[in-house]
Amino acid sequence: MTASPRAAALRQPNDLESFWIPFTPNRAFKRAPRLIARAKDMHYFTPEGRAVLDATAGLWCTNAGHNRDPIVDAIKHQAEELDYSPAFQFAHPKSFELASRVAALAPADLNRVFFCNSGSEAVDTALKIALAYHNVRGEGSRTRLIGRERGYHGVGFGGISVGGIVANRKLFGTLLAGVDHLPSTYNREHQAFTKGEPAWGAHLADELERIVALHDASTIAAVIVEPMSGSTGVLPAPKGYLQKLRAICDRHGILLIFDEVITGFGRLGYAFAAERYGVTPDLLTFAKGITSGSVPMGGVIARDGIYEAFMRGPEHVVELFHGYTYSAHPLACAAGLATLDLYRDEKIFERAKALEPKWADAAMSLKGLPGVLDIRTVGLTVGIDLAGRPGSPGLRAYAAMERAFHDEGVMTRNTGDTIALSPPLIVSEAQIGEIFDKVGRVIRAVN
Ligand SMILES: Cc1ncc(COP(=O)(O)O)c(C=O)c1O
Repeated sequence: MTASPRAAALRQPNDLESFWIPFTPNRAFKRAPRLIARAKDMHYFTPEGRAVLDATAGLWCTNAGHNRDPIVDAIKHQAEELDYSPAFQFAHPKSFELASRVAALAPADLNRVFFCNSGSEAVDTALKIALAYHNVRGEGSRTRLIGRERGYHGVGFGGISVGGIVANRKLFGTLLAGVDHLPSTYNREHQAFTKGEPAWGAHLADELERIVALHDASTIAAVIVEPMSGSTGVLPAPKGYLQKLRAICDRHGILLIFDEVITGFGRLGYAFAAERYGVTPDLLTFAKGITSGSVPMGGVIARDGIYEAFMRGPEHVVELFHGYTYSAHPLACAAGLATLDLYRDEKIFERAKALEPKWADAAMSLKGLPGVLDIRTVGLTVGIDLAGRPGSPGLRAYAAMERAFHDEGVMTRNTGDTIALSPPLIVSEAQIGEIFDKVGRVIRAVN
């Protein structure tokens, strides 16, 4: 297809036309861009040098804060030493070191780490491992995957199939076959304005028994859930819900996958949410916080038994036909090691845990503002549901995000008519106050 003269004329260096921006309304953005040129610790800076307080840790990822010197130095040093080594058939030392460090942070026998480059890849990797695991054990009839309504598992075909956000699914054909969904755990009537895990909702895990009765356990490979659904607007797991899911999966030989792409690395006050809830999944996905967002990286942690099930057959034959050119990329591994050092040395997960009550109290101070329908918190996250504008769903929270950025100097996220906040875990108490003062003003202004 030839480009139109207008499109060709527009393609100048630094014009805004060529870049098709992901998950963004491109035309609105290009009319009033929100550009970020620099960052340090808790702040972004626009090209003009205006500071913007980061209340979202970028996209839930810069848990250690921005441009931290040890991470920057580690990346620089690694780029000088080794830019790339093949991810298949060869390996570099830092990949083993990082895998051991990640395994040490994970609970129980979650000891085997498969690296990839994003949360979406981590999810597709976990789903493939689950299917292959049953196959290599002679239970190849277990092909069904169970997700959950309102779940977000990235944008690969596997992830959108088990995911439960309709806008991410409806334009993309038939998706994976043989997928079913648990109901969402959210119910405003029973849960509104809860700090932490809601008391109501554990019984929703029993829906898995209904799904098993419908399809038979012998056809089901795995269940995948986020311990806290982030991208759909912060939905904490009800008390006892994850424990119930674990028990039902055990009863029927179904693998349980926790998608910890957001909840990993301190967001809920622990290395992984699995520890907070005392529930060990069979596979656990991570990304984002592993490098504090500095270099793309994701991965899957598998229990020993899963890894061992593959370690049969002739030793020269590949055991799992899966991987990415950039799995365990040297820059990502170097950044990951420096990030884990920072988390340990600055006790960042413990800090997040200690701040949780103050964060939750500050968040709840917005209760009663015009149009605020619900506020949910867990760890250092909050979802604030706003009443939508009639006929224009999502517009109010979008207007809030724009106003927060341009007028208040604070970065917020909007999903539907929910404002979602998740600051870097180095946020100070004063900055928590600043965030909610600013967001409160914004909510009043967009009413
Ligand atoms: C739970 C969960 N899984 C997967 C993903 C996808 O991650 P990525 O955007 O790195 O592919 C996300 C992203 O927010 C997520 O929240």
